[in-house]
Amino acid sequence: MTHFSPFIIGVAGGTGSGKTTVTRRVIETVGAERVAVLEQDNYYRDQSDLRPEQRRQTNYDHPAAFDWDLLTAHLDALRSGVPIEMPLYDFTQDTRSSETRTLVPAPVIVLEGIFALYDPRVRDLMQLKIFVDADPDVRFIRRLERDTVERGRSVQSVVQQYLEFVRPMHLQFVEPTKRYADVIIPHGGHNEPALDMLSARIGAL
Ligand code: C5P
Repeated sequence: MTHFSPFIIGVAGGTGSGKTTVTRRVIETVGAERVAVLEQDNYYRDQSDLRPEQRRQTNYDHPAAFDWDLLTAHLDALRSGVPIEMPLYDFTQDTRSSETRTLVPAPVIVLEGIFALYDPRVRDLMQLKIFVDADPDVRFIRRLERDTVERGRSVQSVVQQYLEFVRPMHLQFVEPTKRYADVIIPHGGHNEPALDMLSARIGAL
């Protein structure tokens, strides 16, 4: 087996901050066939044993909502050249779907998610740690639009979840990880100069 050590990039930031846009730029820059993207959302714990109403009560903005063991095992596998079956998460059902996606090892690995910079062991594996920043009102508006359109939520449920879980957990757990970032990208995905600098850094990988 060829041994290579991939360049690992963490893309963290609050909900609606523009993490997906930044990740998309990484993919465009290095080429889709040269990057494996681990979306942390796919590593939410499986809740198929709970009733749908119970699943809705979970605090999804707490680190404990994630299956860290599986995530670290998958990162380790990709680092040592072994393909993985990434779970796929179904936001409309609040649990894992029955499908998985095969990810093969690649020269660049991206871990994208609100807690990408949270776990010290995961952080230590990264060569580039990015925190995507955006004002909370902008993030909330994006979240409201996305969750009602793509995730089958009502306006009232988005507002309630935001006030009860998303906002306090962001302040307690997500925002403090900014201090671990090598680069903070303000204005989320609408920051062409910052995205160009990112491309310049990773273009030759
Ligand atoms: O894509 P984004 O970073 O916004 O995804 C993280 C968000 O997904 C969290 O803020 C969490 O509240 C939300 N989430 C949800 N329902 C789930 C799982 C996560 O609303 N079943």
